[in-house]
Amino acid sequence: MNRLTTPWGDVTLARFPEDPRDPLRAWDASDEYLLRHLGESGTPLSGTVAVVGDRWGALTVSLAAHGTVPAASLVQITDSFLGQQATRAALARNGAGDAAVRLLSARDTPPARVDVLLVRVPKSLALLEDQLHRLAPAVHAGTVVAGTGMVGEIHTSTLKLFERIIGPTKTSLAVKKARLIFCTPDPSLARVPGPWPLRYALPDGIGVLSGRTVTNHAGIFCADRLDIGTRFFLGALPERRGPERVVDLGCGNGVIGTAAALGNPEASVVFVDESYSAVASAEATYRDNVTSGGKADFVVGDGLARMPDGSVDLVLSNPPFHSHRATTDATARRMFGDARRALRPGGELWVVGNRHLGYHLRLRRLFGGCEVMASDPKFVVLRAVKR
Ligand SMILES: C[S@@+](CC[C@H](N)C(=O)[O-])C[C@H]1O[C@@H](n2cnc3c(N)ncnc32)[C@H](O)[C@@H]1O
Repeated sequence: MNRLTTPWGDVTLARFPEDPRDPLRAWDASDEYLLRHLGESGTPLSGTVAVVGDRWGALTVSLAAHGTVPAASLVQITDSFLGQQATRAALARNGAGDAAVRLLSARDTPPARVDVLLVRVPKSLALLEDQLHRLAPAVHAGTVVAGTGMVGEIHTSTLKLFERIIGPTKTSLAVKKARLIFCTPDPSLARVPGPWPLRYALPDGIGVLSGRTVTNHAGIFCADRLDIGTRFFLGALPERRGPERVVDLGCGNGVIGTAAALGNPEASVVFVDESYSAVASAEATYRDNVTSGGKADFVVGDGLARMPDGSVDLVLSNPPFHSHRATTDATARRMFGDARRALRPGGELWVVGNRHLGYHLRLRRLFGGCEVMASDPKFVVLRAVKR
């Protein structure tokens, strides 16, 4: 848990799920920079204040906890279930409560009018593009638009997006490797529809999915092409028959679960992801391709947290990996532990991963063994059976 000092008082924040051993803070210098700027510049925080892309709730909670923005005027828009849960927990912890903020996902309809738009620049330029397109109709000539991000996250292309969709844009000096973006809305800019979601036909030679169409909302994993690890996994999926419950864990655009459904029409497939846009993409991919008979559920959530013990026959996963090793290991490890709990005895977890990630060591320790089902110089597909 970390304490952040803001111009209006301190707030206590934590990532979600909370882990006392987690060395990573729930905010960074870009959150601090924007909050300090808002406090020192006396920016009027009235009307509807929309906070977009807040990572772990630092911006939203700081504005809500001390009544800086009145309840019902503050809206948070995020694509991340984990970020939303962190915000919810921090609102309660800091005495603000759920009613202080309207929590919307990136797929919800945005507010009709926005008077202050605060943007924590996301890692994905596509997600920023989509969010600005969705919010542009709500922005008016008097809307205050301010963005923030770490220097490495703000590129010329980022500023060009603001210029093209909202209006003239400039940046601040860098402070502690963070930078602010100031944008003046230009109501005369032509409103053109955003390019997302992107739908494309999958290549040939990937089994049941060959030539089929996949839907990708902005910002999801590998939104513009089939990931090479996913492709390798598709060629190594188990052939199964009969009624069973399958989970596509961290489903992204849903290609893995859709392949499982097409391969075994009696299976019931649960698609799970912490990204709202991923789950919406998976649902579209599934519905376009499994047109008769199949049964599927689409769940936005944290891994298998809501799945009862011993209720699943097969878990298929291409777990998340990020450049930050601590994050990589923590999420994949949690997913493997979750899978073991949710599988019935005899149930199987199939995982694809880069060789260097060493998933086999983790799975061996957790399941008492694991088998290599396919491998090439870059990837391995591993199978672990719950005993
Ligand atoms: C490497 S991508 C794989 C996506 C897709 N299955 C594929 O192969 O193209 C990992 C996915 O895990 C999701 N993810 C990350 N953390 C998660 C969590 N705690 N619970 C559920 N999904 C999560 C990410 O949003 C991402 O879509």
